[in-house]
Amino acid sequence: MKINLKKVDSISGVIEMPGDKSITHRSIMLSSLSEGSSIIRNYLLSDDCDRTIEAFRKMGVEIKSDKNNLYIKGVGLKLANPNVKNYNIYAGNSGTTVRLLSGILAGQNFETIITGDKSLSMRPMQRVIDPLLRMGANIISKGGLLPLKITGRGSLKAINYKSEKSTAQVKSAVLLAGLYADGPTTYSEPMKSRDHSERMLKAFGVNVDVRGNSVTVCPIDKLIAHDLTIPGDISSAAFFIAAALIIPNSNLIIKNVGVNPTRSGLVEVLKRMGANITLINFREVSHEPVYDIIAKYSKLKATNIEAPLIPRMIDEIPIFALIASQAEGVTKVSGAEELRVKETDRIKAIVGQFKKLGVKIEELKDGFLINGGSSSGFTITDAIILNSFKDHRIAMTLAIASLIANGKIAIKNSDCVDISFPGFYETLKGICN
Ligand code: S3P
Repeated sequence: MKINLKKVDSISGVIEMPGDKSITHRSIMLSSLSEGSSIIRNYLLSDDCDRTIEAFRKMGVEIKSDKNNLYIKGVGLKLANPNVKNYNIYAGNSGTTVRLLSGILAGQNFETIITGDKSLSMRPMQRVIDPLLRMGANIISKGGLLPLKITGRGSLKAINYKSEKSTAQVKSAVLLAGLYADGPTTYSEPMKSRDHSERMLKAFGVNVDVRGNSVTVCPIDKLIAHDLTIPGDISSAAFFIAAALIIPNSNLIIKNVGVNPTRSGLVEVLKRMGANITLINFREVSHEPVYDIIAKYSKLKATNIEAPLIPRMIDEIPIFALIASQAEGVTKVSGAEELRVKETDRIKAIVGQFKKLGVKIEELKDGFLINGGSSSGFTITDAIILNSFKDHRIAMTLAIASLIANGKIAIKNSDCVDISFPGFYETLKGICN
């Protein structure tokens, strides 16, 4: 699919985001592993989360769904052997599915092979294999890449693991494997990555001790089934916040957004840049902080983002780059080499596609430099085709960029937004004036 988008006068309205992707994955996993039934309200109905649902269905979990809710009948910590029906679990494009699932499969009594699509098959898995091997897991990969063959050992060794990277996927894999370990398992990371797993494990009855950037989980006999309501995804809201900030006369309210402190990097940076963004109506929903967000058109100043902030806004860097292109002065993003191993090399994708829009942008090994323009919008007048590289967050960034470009813009493989946000284009059309 190739979508065509063009400049709009302003955006306005009141919208809601679909459920948070990270929290939806975790809720499916922990509900499946618990004893009893759970209802997951406002789950994210998307390609990535479907991969996790299908994986657990294959392993004997009854998961029913309607448009808003999932109804999960957990089978306990020991899943059924999927080999009976089909040997493989297909994780599609979803890094969260493959990495978190690896931790769970390491503690089972059967063998599984996890495969994925072309993009996922090029993403590094050694980072999750290393700690799991230390826990006694039996994992064979293709030189650190998919497919992964995981032969469960039934139980694992507790470890104290110091990670060099701040990654919630690896942290969560180790914490989940820790449920099957012979003692308390500790995971430490340089900067605190998103803590949804820690919050949810506690809610399901696990003894979790968080000290600074270290987390310890104790093994457990059974998880207690727990209904959950998933907050709106801040990473999806980021695209609409950006649109409101950079399109003149815009005024947008986004309701029910999860603004967990480990995910709030973008909001903090935007405030530093002078953005008119306000968080109101704080409440806690299923152990996560939730707000309504008001964003209005703003005159922005450039800023720098360095390594310590990156984990707290890792998925928002592409859309942040677009915001920076409209801010006065030079913005530097560094310490963001992780972007090179996301769904696509996001540094290359941003730099290449933004250059086509006429942005003054320079590629760095671990980020980029942007010289932001003083007037709102891109001056290119020709019709151009941009490439999403089938990366959902690149596609959505380019879609928002199209709304301030003079020339007509077509985006290749624009339907990849379904990975995290089916309905993205409809929601966008609904607020354009
Ligand atoms: C995620 C963690 C992050 C993020 C990804 C979702 C999660 O990845 O980029 O979209 O759900 O734990 P890393 O752990 O690789 O940083």
